[in-house]
Formats: sequence, C-alpha cells, structure tokens
Amino acid sequence: MSHDHLSVRPRRLRQTPWLRDLVSEITLAPKDFILPLFLRDKTDDALDHLGIRRYTVKEVYPVLEKAADLGIKAVMFFPVIANAYKDETASYAFSSENFFIENLHYIKQKKYPLTLLVDVALDPYTSHGHDGLLVKKTDGDFEIDNDETINLLVEMSFLYAKAGIDGVCPSDMMDGRVAFIRKKLDQEKLFHVCVMSYALKYASCLYRPFRSIVNAQPLQGLHDKKTYQMDFRNKIEGLREMHLDISEGADMLIVKPGLFYLDQVARLSQTQTVPLFVYQVSGEYAMIKAAAQQGLLDEKMAFLEAAYAFKRAGATGIIAYNALEMAKWIKE
Ligand code: PBG
Repeated sequence: MSHDHLSVRPRRLRQTPWLRDLVSEITLAPKDFILPLFLRDKTDDALDHLGIRRYTVKEVYPVLEKAADLGIKAVMFFPVIANAYKDETASYAFSSENFFIENLHYIKQKKYPLTLLVDVALDPYTSHGHDGLLVKKTDGDFEIDNDETINLLVEMSFLYAKAGIDGVCPSDMMDGRVAFIRKKLDQEKLFHVCVMSYALKYASCLYRPFRSIVNAQPLQGLHDKKTYQMDFRNKIEGLREMHLDISEGADMLIVKPGLFYLDQVARLSQTQTVPLFVYQVSGEYAMIKAAAQQGLLDEKMAFLEAAYAFKRAGATGIIAYNALEMAKWIKE
C-alpha cells in the first residue's frame, strides 16, 4: 500500500522537543498558583497530612518569603481553631482575642509582595461543623439560617479586611452573601478589598482531608452540606451561580473541586467576565499524593498534567496545596 497521498501528518509537529515547545499552546507559570496556608495557635499541633501542615505565624513567615521568591503572587489563609473555642454561633471569630485575626495583622505588616487572601466561612469556628448558623425548626428538624449567616459573614469579612487582608473568599454558599459583603466593605471605605467568591462549590466527598487539617467538627443536625453546597448532578445551575456572584460584585470567581468539574471550568471560561480560579481540593491532591507514595503514579508528572488540564479548560489560575513545588518544577 502506498502512502504517497498522506500529506496531512500531525506527527510532523511532534518530532523534537524544540518543535513541540514551539507549537505548544498552554504555558504554566509560578504566578498561576495560589498557595493555601493553615494558621494555628501555638498550642495546637502542626499535623502533617500528606505534606499539608499547619503553621504558627512565626513558622509561616519563611514560607511566605519563599513563595514570593518563587514568583507566586497570592496566598489564601485558613484558621485552625481549637475545640475549646468552638461554639454554635462561631463567637470566637468575632472575639478581640482571635489569634487568627491578630496573625493576619502581623503578616500584613511584613509587606510581602503577595496578595493576601482569606477564606471566609463559619465552619472552622462552629461546634456543629457547618458553614452557617444551625437552627432548630418547630418540627424538630434543623436548617441553616441563610440571612443570619450572612450577617456573620459580613462581620467576619470586615474584621479580616481591617486586619489588612487584600481579598476575602466566601466559601459558604449562602445566597446573597457577596452583595452584602461588598456593601459593608464599601460602607467602611474598604474599596480596595477584593471579593473572590467560591461561586460554584459542589457538595463533594473530596473535602475530607481538609476537614481534619482545619479541625472541622463532625457535622451535627444536618449530616451533609447539601442544603447549601451545589448538587453535582447539576450543570446549568453553575451558570446561574456565576452570574449571580458577578452581578453582586465579585471581582474573581472560584470553581471547586477541580478535576471532576473541568466541564464547568471550560463552560464558564467561555462566558466569564472576571478571572476564574479553580481549586484543586484536598481530596484530589491526596489522590495523586497517595497514589505516588504507592508507586502507582509519578507525582511530579501527575500534578503537572492536572495543572495543564486546568489551564487548558480556561482557568486563570489554580489554588494548589503544593504551589511551592509546582513553581519549582516549572522553573526546572
Ligand atoms: C470551608 C471550606 C472547605 C474547603 C474550603 N473551604 C470545606 C467544606 O466546605 O466542607 C475545602 C477545601 C479542600 O478540601 O481542600 N467552607
């Protein structure tokens, strides 16, 4: 059989590494990664969960320096709160004793060339583990009070912003919170503080490792988060959530989890009018990490392939637990 007529040969562009580099479409850079960081009080333990650990404020300074040196542009803080400080109404979040707020303030003073973001939600502070206020209805069942929760999220955002944070990231999925947070920040003349909202957050099994890292309590009253986080059987609803958050004033959006939800990243990136980030959550990080530890995957290759997938789908950037390593690997 003669192949003389075979004039179209895509393999021609794959012959050498330099030719492949020349025609490659997607690039990864350190600036594409946001590093999540867990801040603990001195009395709590550091825990090391597959390479994710909790830092005291003193321990986190060198990490922030390293991040900036590697070319990372943003970090996102989460509080680790001891059980003794948790209650039904998350009151420690609003206490003048809150070590987390104090730490944010110290970190701001250091003037790192980094955008300081903070996750805004009640679940690290509540004894029932929910992201909202849990109330008992007259029939004895429990529900999450959307509007009362918003009041607390607004206050929390304000306190974090006052401590010097550059952007607040509400991860609770209450209706309308972005609008009220924006309004409060503006009233307080904190016009410069960004809102990066978790616009699409699905009720996923992939958050489990995170919950032990932040010491979130086992859920009580309602046994899952399905009355506020999204149903993973839904697609169109994602557009609705995106448009709502943008119209309420969100400056940037997050889709979460990442790999199982690439269809939504791809879809939203077609119509988005604001930067769109994807969160490679603890469970998907752990899947790669654990498989690599068992010799089933090459860790570096797997993480890089996933990162290219996020960018190919159209993400502006990736929230990744191993952002420092990713930045190093990219530079190699
Ligand atoms: C808190 C919050 C969660 C995550 C980020 N912010 C947990 C949850 O909603 O249950 C998950 C992050 C991860 O799994 O890496 N609202």
